[in-house]
Amino acid sequence: MAKVTIKHDNGTTTTYEIAQEINLYQFLAGLNLIDAPCGGAGGCGKCKVKIMQPRTAWQEEETAVFTGQELAAGWRLACQHSVSEDITVVLPTEEVVSEIISQGYLRDFAPKPYFAKRLAQNGDTMVMAGQEIIGIEKGDTRDRLYGLAVDIGTTTVVAGLIDLSSGQELASVSCLNGQKTFGQDVITRINYAMTNTNGTLIQQKTILQDLRKLIKGIFAQCGRDYAITFKDIYEITVGGNNTMIHLLAGIDPSSMGMSPYLPAFKGALVAKGASDWQLPVSDLCRVYCLPAVSAFVGGDISAGILACGIHQDARNILFIDIGTNGEMVLSGNGRLTACSCAAGPALEGMNISCGVRAARGAIEDVRLIGSGADMLVEVAVIGEVRPTGLCGSGLLAAVAELVRTGILHKSGRLLEHPLVEKVAGKKRFIIDRENEIYLTQQDIRQVQLAKGAILSGIQTMLQAAGVDFAEIDRVLVAGQFGAHLKAASLTGAGLIPRELENVITYVGNTSKSGAYLCLLSTEERESVEQLTSQINYIELSHLAGFDAVFVKAIEF
Ligand code: FES
Repeated sequence: MAKVTIKHDNGTTTTYEIAQEINLYQFLAGLNLIDAPCGGAGGCGKCKVKIMQPRTAWQEEETAVFTGQELAAGWRLACQHSVSEDITVVLPTEEVVSEIISQGYLRDFAPKPYFAKRLAQNGDTMVMAGQEIIGIEKGDTRDRLYGLAVDIGTTTVVAGLIDLSSGQELASVSCLNGQKTFGQDVITRINYAMTNTNGTLIQQKTILQDLRKLIKGIFAQCGRDYAITFKDIYEITVGGNNTMIHLLAGIDPSSMGMSPYLPAFKGALVAKGASDWQLPVSDLCRVYCLPAVSAFVGGDISAGILACGIHQDARNILFIDIGTNGEMVLSGNGRLTACSCAAGPALEGMNISCGVRAARGAIEDVRLIGSGADMLVEVAVIGEVRPTGLCGSGLLAAVAELVRTGILHKSGRLLEHPLVEKVAGKKRFIIDRENEIYLTQQDIRQVQLAKGAILSGIQTMLQAAGVDFAEIDRVLVAGQFGAHLKAASLTGAGLIPRELENVITYVGNTSKSGAYLCLLSTEERESVEQLTSQINYIELSHLAGFDAVFVKAIEF
């Protein structure tokens, strides 16, 4: 047994006891005290802590991040060290919590919840699931019928408490997905499941803990106001990517991690919340996870289609959700086409020299004003505090501005400019000299790969559907990433053609909106199951000639 003493930057100290050796990053991340872009893989240099005692030898990776003086003072990368004896750690900054988008666009619909209550002749209450009576409750409990609409994202989890009788959302809570300690993206989570004994079940346990925490959090927020208890939750609907749903169900996702990238299942999943997953809900509670289209076009995207109603819209609509994976759906010429691409981690601020998550201190927008030696770099920072780095939207904004001002060649090469410097033979564009924030040539290459993957995916879908860019009526951008993003950055960096700039709309967390629809309408649930079975899914990695489309699409 060892003690971990943590000194926070606000002067407080907390001590924890650990039963067995654990990586320091994993331990701190488990407490939500650290959230580095590479998730403990040793590649981002962002998990800085000061180890006060014991004196710890430094690793080679740390010499590239810290000066000799800092190393001598005890600064280390948490992910490079394990805890097996008493240790005292100083955290340099306050807890990092990403901004979480909990609301999304929702079209009109006719409510008709799957769960309902009817009064029996003897005064007791029948609980109905569809047409079936699944329980009898003593007395008249018709005013106690609630559900949860949940979005399980790779990074964040959001839950809304919904009154199933009125459709009103009473409260919404969110947290970071605790599985992030096993990897920041779906591929590393799948790898974790493949390479660790009980890797799937460990991750299932983690997400179930998150859900229990959120349910308790929601009642702490409003349970007393509405006189509701855990037992009044009869249904939970979940939108989530297919890896998240596999892990929630405790089903091995390994088959999605290797060619031909097939999920173990992709239809809607139904479970019993209390008995299957020990959630604090009614014993009658069912959990419904929206169906997926393929391994990497999941129930979160099905939910987005449903919430935005693009399957019922006669116009040509492009729906995109950009993250480590880019997921896209085109409603064109009367049919739905979908694909997904590996956009890589750059747009989430990972594997970028000065990349950070979209949280307080992240630069979310960049503008270049003037020219030549007089050029000024203006930045917008989340929380209006001292900038700590560039998040995905800031990164795209910076690249778009470099393209606009001609500092970036269409091949992606940084050209000569007073703000372009060479350090150790490598070019970088200085964004904030005082806070040492810059964009390297290598960072720009990462953006190029993401841009190429997304644009080539869109082009391929358009070609398959026989639709031109000029015929697109609307572009809907969903998910966490788009919240801080300007349409001009998307087009300026070339992810989406410039002529579509005026039809781009940000629609927010449509995964939760779609889950909400399925919670309140049996017909919407049937509709999402039908539409996912009819989508024309294109597997880009199997497509002849796709490489040539991709190579062309990486040009700015
Ligand atoms: S978490 Fe340690 S370097 Fe990224």
